[in-house]
Amino acid sequence: MIILGFESSCDETGVALVCTERGLLSHALHTQVAMHASYGGVVPELASRDHVRRVVPLTRKALGQAGLSLSDVDAVAYTAGPGLAGALLVGASVAQSVAWSLGVPAIAIHHLEGHLLSPRMAEPRPEFPFVALLVSGGHTQLMRVDDVGQYTLLGETLDDAAGEAFDKTAKLLGLGYPGGPALARLAELGDSRAFDLPRPMLHSQTLDFSFSGLKTAVITRLRDALAHARPSATLVQDLAAATQAAIVDVLIAKSVAALKQTGLRRLVVAGGVGANSRLREQLVTRLRKVQGEAYFPPPELCTDNGAMIAFAAAQRVSRGLANLAPGTHGFNVYPRWDLAQI
Ligand code: KG4
Ligand code: ZN
Repeated sequence: MIILGFESSCDETGVALVCTERGLLSHALHTQVAMHASYGGVVPELASRDHVRRVVPLTRKALGQAGLSLSDVDAVAYTAGPGLAGALLVGASVAQSVAWSLGVPAIAIHHLEGHLLSPRMAEPRPEFPFVALLVSGGHTQLMRVDDVGQYTLLGETLDDAAGEAFDKTAKLLGLGYPGGPALARLAELGDSRAFDLPRPMLHSQTLDFSFSGLKTAVITRLRDALAHARPSATLVQDLAAATQAAIVDVLIAKSVAALKQTGLRRLVVAGGVGANSRLREQLVTRLRKVQGEAYFPPPELCTDNGAMIAFAAAQRVSRGLANLAPGTHGFNVYPRWDLAQI
């Protein structure tokens, strides 16, 4: 069965084709980063309009790369939430229209389910059950995943997401938007021990996170440093390295605690921050010490993309969890949507 998937929840338009037997066939992506950069963040109305402009050319591209035509498509999948309402509506309406015109089912997918199943697109493929660390620009959660559709929330951020902490600190350091990847690049050049930043909730008994205080700590350290020295590249690199180390330390400690609490061995990391190389390296090393195993999607599939949405739909179809009955093709989107409730 061939599934055409659409992702449009935020600032990436993604279209992909996945076969339930053969896996990922093709995926095409457009990121709006350059368009939003001058505003310092995503402008929802501009995001929606750009999804409208990109979605048809990207669909042609994905079909062309897979050597398929629309008539080969057996089902259509789309991100129904969470995300920006207007942006979600573009993907949902296009997906429903294509499904209606082809007479095939349309499958609504939860964006975070797409992220957390995405490491199963790569080899070695993590078997169920596993713990998933979902770290994106909007979410930081630890989930117990027993099978497709069986998700239990173990802990989550009480305020900012890990990606948000990267982005806000980067903005503070003048690194532009989205700052995560830029901060990570600078951090490679700095000394993380030059600044002693807090590790919020590291020793709390829960698996929850809190990252909002980190930004304030960075402001204080920056102010103190500038009272004694001139601004310099080294100062910014060291603060970037210290920030990254603080975020990564907390993510790793809570992930290890989640494995211990659940008695599971496999940890799957997904979402944009999963592309962070320090997190990847340190997690692999740390888990080896506790007989655990870390799984990641390929870095280019860590951030938002259509492949994970088509793939999540394929996994649901394979397990009989997708509603394939021809419907009325009305649709809702859910800008706020709890994964544990699906
Ligand atoms: O999953 P994603 O593409 O979008 C959301 O659903 O939010 O994640 C985007 C987030 C941004 O906060 C971005 O700065 C962060 O992932 N990010 C990174 C890296 N690449 C992307 N953070 C740290 N290091 C990276 N290499
Ligand atoms: Zn995402």
